[in-house]
Amino acid sequence: MYNYYASDIIEEVRVSNDIVDVVSEYVRLEKRGKNYFGLCPFHKENTPSFSVEAGKQIFYCFGCGKGGNVFQFIMNVENLEYIEAVRLLADRARIQLPEGENDQEKEKALLKQEIIKINTEAARFFYNNLNSKQFENARLYLKERKVSDHTIRRFGMGYSPEEWDMLYKHLTVKGFKDENILKSGLVISGKNGSCYDRFRGRIMFPIFDIRGNVIGFGGRVTDSSVPKYMNSPETIAYNKSKSLYALNFAKNAGQKRMLIVEGYMDVISLHQCGIINTVASLGTALTESQGRILKKYAEEIVIAYDSDAAGQAAAIRGLDLLNDIGCNVKVLIIPQGKDPDEFIKKNGTEEFNRLVDKSLSLVEYKIKVLKKQIDTESTEGKIKFLNKVSEVLVRIDNSIEREMYIKKLADEYKISEEALQSEIYKKSKPKANLKTVTASIPSEKTSRKNISGKHDNKLVYYERILIALMCIDNSIYKDIKNKITAELFSEPENWQIAKEVSERLQSNKSMVPAELLDILDKEAASVFTKIFQEECNYEDNYKAVLDIIKRIELYKLEKRKQEIFDLLNRKEKIEGDVEKLNQELSSLIIAIRKMKES
Ligand code: CTP
Ligand code: MN
Repeated sequence: MYNYYASDIIEEVRVSNDIVDVVSEYVRLEKRGKNYFGLCPFHKENTPSFSVEAGKQIFYCFGCGKGGNVFQFIMNVENLEYIEAVRLLADRARIQLPEGENDQEKEKALLKQEIIKINTEAARFFYNNLNSKQFENARLYLKERKVSDHTIRRFGMGYSPEEWDMLYKHLTVKGFKDENILKSGLVISGKNGSCYDRFRGRIMFPIFDIRGNVIGFGGRVTDSSVPKYMNSPETIAYNKSKSLYALNFAKNAGQKRMLIVEGYMDVISLHQCGIINTVASLGTALTESQGRILKKYAEEIVIAYDSDAAGQAAAIRGLDLLNDIGCNVKVLIIPQGKDPDEFIKKNGTEEFNRLVDKSLSLVEYKIKVLKKQIDTESTEGKIKFLNKVSEVLVRIDNSIEREMYIKKLADEYKISEEALQSEIYKKSKPKANLKTVTASIPSEKTSRKNISGKHDNKLVYYERILIALMCIDNSIYKDIKNKITAELFSEPENWQIAKEVSERLQSNKSMVPAELLDILDKEAASVFTKIFQEECNYEDNYKAVLDIIKRIELYKLEKRKQEIFDLLNRKEKIEGDVEKLNQELSSLIIAIRKMKES
């Protein structure tokens, strides 16, 4: 993980960003005992199980098992790569990171800048076309769709002429290199080596990043030809799964609520009517990254997708996704199969706002969909419906909210609340079990090798506690260093980590819990955080370490003993010396007894 910056500068960044301060920028924390608690930003919950420990500079969620140090927190919450998280926190602490350590990174950053320049120039070119007499039809099209001049300017809309290479020529004249022009995705190289424009004869919608850089384009035909829309391909500047159209404007709306719609025109219409807390996912399925970004800017997210079947299916997927990452989601239903753009043009802003206020909660929406799908007139249908409904209700972890729905549904379908309750209870059981099983997995068998059964879970766990204790209390090391050998560790990964910790301590450098987490991958970091939080609360760390080492050694002796037993008890003739095995067995038994007595 240290391929960009030296470990000491990373450590400087880490210690300069107190985890309680950093987390507080995202989560409301309350102090309880030595830990701080709050609602987990990584999963939905109503009672806080997300904890931050100032002493060890780590966070851990007892609900979802995510944990780590301040870097891992930022990686998760901001959806960043490790190195990006380091940069963000360096900025925050005003630490100057050494530059030019990695030529490849530098080159990438330069290329990205160049592509944004090309896009910006292209946007200017498209925009100017709209004002030229030659392309007045395009202007007319927008007028017909009631897009005001102000809106055209604000969104930088434009027109790409119905020619082969007007943009390409324009960019060349402006001095951009073919290589980079092609990488922008605006121009495509043909079979005979000639270059032609991707967008021809289309209304152009620049796509901005959060800072307002032009990172890509969408283009719509002005008639009924197909494809209706074309979009820039992914480039070094444009990552579709992390972009949301109009977020650069919507983030300034200063509202608790954010609307998410499907298309360019929906966003543009709503913004024109003053509903600027609107973004679009641009026809693609909502991604987790987009969800997390939205969550950062809004307490409540309202999905306002087209009311056609595709739109509604997309809405359900988006709902579940947003709900799972802890967003408070609602669904806005547009009557008569319209999209937000059509609706607001026909019925006005006030009517639209009324729809927003009437939008359904996740549960209400799911029940509504079920009602539509199932004929509840027949007894059979009623049973099926209630069965499906209880599957929805079981997912509500707020009991008051659940009670409310039970009452409502019982009333509506003339069944007893108890019956519905017991249906939900039946469904809740296996789920709860599943949860406890998965929750306990990280501690004992997270390592990939364990799952394949090659290693012993218990040993692997002990080994990790041992490493954790060495980091919690560095002074232990000098007394146990002789025991920290490759032989002690059953799992190679653990030995690698232990070796790194030892080397650090051997050269009189320290290694604290949060720093250890930096040399681990994300998954291992969560496992170790859990151990730091739940396991390592001993009165006397030194005694605890000795005890763990003893347990590891004892465990190995017992295992060998068992192996010999098995060998001796096998029916077939065993290779080697039975006598020798018996001798080893008796010395093992003595060693085990001695060890147990000590
Ligand atoms: N889309 C796309 N490619 C298509 C069709 C749609 O990328 N061939 C994306 C566009 O981002 C579009 C969104 O999906 O904005 C929603 O599609 P649709 O509802 O068909 O378009 P509208 O935005 O409603 O466009 P318009 O009102 O101009 O028809
Ligand atoms: Mn539309």
